[in-house]
Amino acid sequence: MNVDGKQMRPIWFDKDTETVRVIDQRFLPHQFIIKDLTHVDEVIHAIQEMVVRGAPLIGATGAAGVYVILVQENNQGMDDTWFSRECGRLKNARPTATNLRWGVNRVQAKVLEQTSHESRIQAALTESLAIMEEEADNCRQIGVHGLTLIQEIAARKPGQPVNILTHCNAGWLACIEYGTATAPIYTAHDAGIPVHVWVDETRPLNQGARLTAWELGKHGIPHTVITDNAGGHLMQHDQVDLVIVGTDRTTRAGDVANKIGTYLKALAARDNDIPFYVALPVSTFDWEITDGIRDIPIEERNPDEIRYVQGWHDDAIIRVQITPEDCPAANHAFDVTPARLVTGFITERGMCDASENAIKKMYPDQFKTD
Ligand code: MRU
Repeated sequence: MNVDGKQMRPIWFDKDTETVRVIDQRFLPHQFIIKDLTHVDEVIHAIQEMVVRGAPLIGATGAAGVYVILVQENNQGMDDTWFSRECGRLKNARPTATNLRWGVNRVQAKVLEQTSHESRIQAALTESLAIMEEEADNCRQIGVHGLTLIQEIAARKPGQPVNILTHCNAGWLACIEYGTATAPIYTAHDAGIPVHVWVDETRPLNQGARLTAWELGKHGIPHTVITDNAGGHLMQHDQVDLVIVGTDRTTRAGDVANKIGTYLKALAARDNDIPFYVALPVSTFDWEITDGIRDIPIEERNPDEIRYVQGWHDDAIIRVQITPEDCPAANHAFDVTPARLVTGFITERGMCDASENAIKKMYPDQFKTD
């Protein structure tokens, strides 16, 4: 996407230095810092500490991490036991986004088809770059399919903006291009449809206030940051036409794990008869599970993320404590919205209902083990 006239992605392979590079999202929007990932421990750290975050980007970073394993200093060449153990460590860096396991597995399988170290490196690079291109294209297609939803609402309220609420950051920073939840918004805006986005700030790490607001601003899309608890009120007062969110893992039956607070938005949307859509690429479906509440692992992060808030003051990033010292805090990073509260999915293949049958019709190739 365009950042001050420069085409950027949140991850790329620098051909001159043969290194994987990422935008460090911890300091956006205040500081724009680029990091090199040259060792698997750096890749794991980047995923865990949310230098990179968002399900499709975590998957692409995991995929690139397999290449890093093979080229890092002290790599153990053709030792398959070592290689599989390092891939395993990578897959476990964060538990909820299924894309991580998907991306690492895909590249690992390609590597193991090769019989020399050089050809393994080449296979890892080729496959991880292919994943990045596919994810960019998937998000572009999500934008094309989701556009019809926004067009239909716009036709019912000519001359007025379509108000869309989103939670967390499911934009290009979380993906490779366009985003998932934001792709239909970009497509609609670029097609001349007036849109306005309510951006949930998304405590504790404020991905909405820091990242989604920054992305939308750079693209000239009207938006307003709101507190995480404001959505229900706005819905009761006809200020929200549509909710679109992303997801970290969606079961084959349509239960959706996404950033903590998503479930409450879905409940409020249902109570107010507002369509609640989830945008996702194929890499975010977990084809092995049906019951999201029981089977999706929910990450619990460091409680300090609740106790402290980070911001920009006097030309520097500062961190301030907002709770009493040593206050007990619990930091559940995701929740699960049951399929019954989801109006539908926007995928790269089109839109479908949140039910096992509809998902199966959309992805018959993925259900082939039945
Ligand atoms: O903890 P994060 O910032 O990685 O959580 C991200 C989200 O919850 C996104 O909504 C999700 O990954 C979908 S990204 C297209």
